Amino acid sequence: MTKLFDPIDLGAIHLKNRIAMAPLTRSRAIEGEVPNPLAVEYYAQRASTGLIISEATQISRSGQGYPNTPGIFTAEQVAGWKPITDAVHAKGGKMVAQLWHVGRVSLSDYQPDGLPGFAPSAIAIASGQGMRPDFSMTDFETPRALTVEQIEAIVGDYVHAAKNAIEAGFDGVEIHAANGYLIDQFLKDGANKREDQYGGSVENRARFMLEVTTAVVDAIGADRTGIRLSPSNGANGTLDSDPASIFLYAAAALKPFGLAYLHLIEGEEGTPMSIKNGAPQLAKQMREAFGGPVMLNGGLTRELAEKALAEGRADLVSSGVPVLSNPDLVERWKKNAPLNAPDKATFYGGGAKGYTDYPFLETAEA
Ligand SMILES: Cc1cc2nc3c(=O)[nH]c(=O)nc-3n(C[C@H](O)[C@H](O)[C@H](O)COP(=O)(O)O)c2cc1C
Repeated sequence: MTKLFDPIDLGAIHLKNRIAMAPLTRSRAIEGEVPNPLAVEYYAQRASTGLIISEATQISRSGQGYPNTPGIFTAEQVAGWKPITDAVHAKGGKMVAQLWHVGRVSLSDYQPDGLPGFAPSAIAIASGQGMRPDFSMTDFETPRALTVEQIEAIVGDYVHAAKNAIEAGFDGVEIHAANGYLIDQFLKDGANKREDQYGGSVENRARFMLEVTTAVVDAIGADRTGIRLSPSNGANGTLDSDPASIFLYAAAALKPFGLAYLHLIEGEEGTPMSIKNGAPQLAKQMREAFGGPVMLNGGLTRELAEKALAEGRADLVSSGVPVLSNPDLVERWKKNAPLNAPDKATFYGGGAKGYTDYPFLETAEA
């Protein structure tokens, strides 16, 4: 047995092992962006992981940027999440809600007023394309630059969503500050060209993240609040010219909150979400600066996960695609058993196929 299978406390949340399910958007929400009833079984199947981080859930209508992603801002959405958290708890699991605002990844199709989405600055994502509600792809639009009043309103949306998450039975929340979405757009100078208190210096670029964190912590407690950062992958066309400066500052600035955890995406070279453009590997330094539990993610096998723990880069790990296609990944890693292959065609959208029908070990072996 290795440390991976040992329990750990993340603030007020007790985990039975150190393998978390990474957040995975599946685009299967039903009318009103309410979680699909099938999600009850999907998440319960994966409750042997120490912690389930929900698929990203938008905190407001304006925060949405993909088809059929669930929200956590209406009473119907809260009611849709409740049976999911109940089912996970009944299986002895823990679950946090990932709170999401996509910023400039959104398209006018998703905005209540039919105009482009919002971002720190009016700069469109130059690479890749956005996904319309009908799953077709289109070029990204030039977003509207947020006013200070609009920024304050979004902080309020995070608080509302965090309180809703607790009402829906989640053990806590993860603030999604990674992968080129709104908070990451403020952090990285490739997307943030503001000249006010939210742009320029590292202190200014981290201000929005820290305001959101302060407000969420005030609402539900630091011991139920985690945050996810991606220092080095440039997802959704959002890169920084000097990731070490902004992300070491961010990790140190998050330390005084005493958060439940810091979740870092920092895939090894050549793995999904791996470091791009020669960016430095920052996990070890960020863990020291943050001072609390660090969860590492990105292309981890059991061996790489153990190595990350042994090298002091993390206290626990999260796994995305392997948990998507192996509901019993913890048992498979324990036994060094073979893994089911993921079916990429069913990642986004659809029903039970590729969602609740991946076989467990006994069934796979039978
Ligand atoms: C289908 C799919 C959906 C994803 N959705 C999210 C998401 O909602 N929120 C998020 O922070 N990351 C999301 N990611 C990134 C994963 O959480 C994770 O960082 C990535 O898959 C690398 O980890 P892995 O190699 O263990 O899969 C998604 C990845 C995939 C493949």
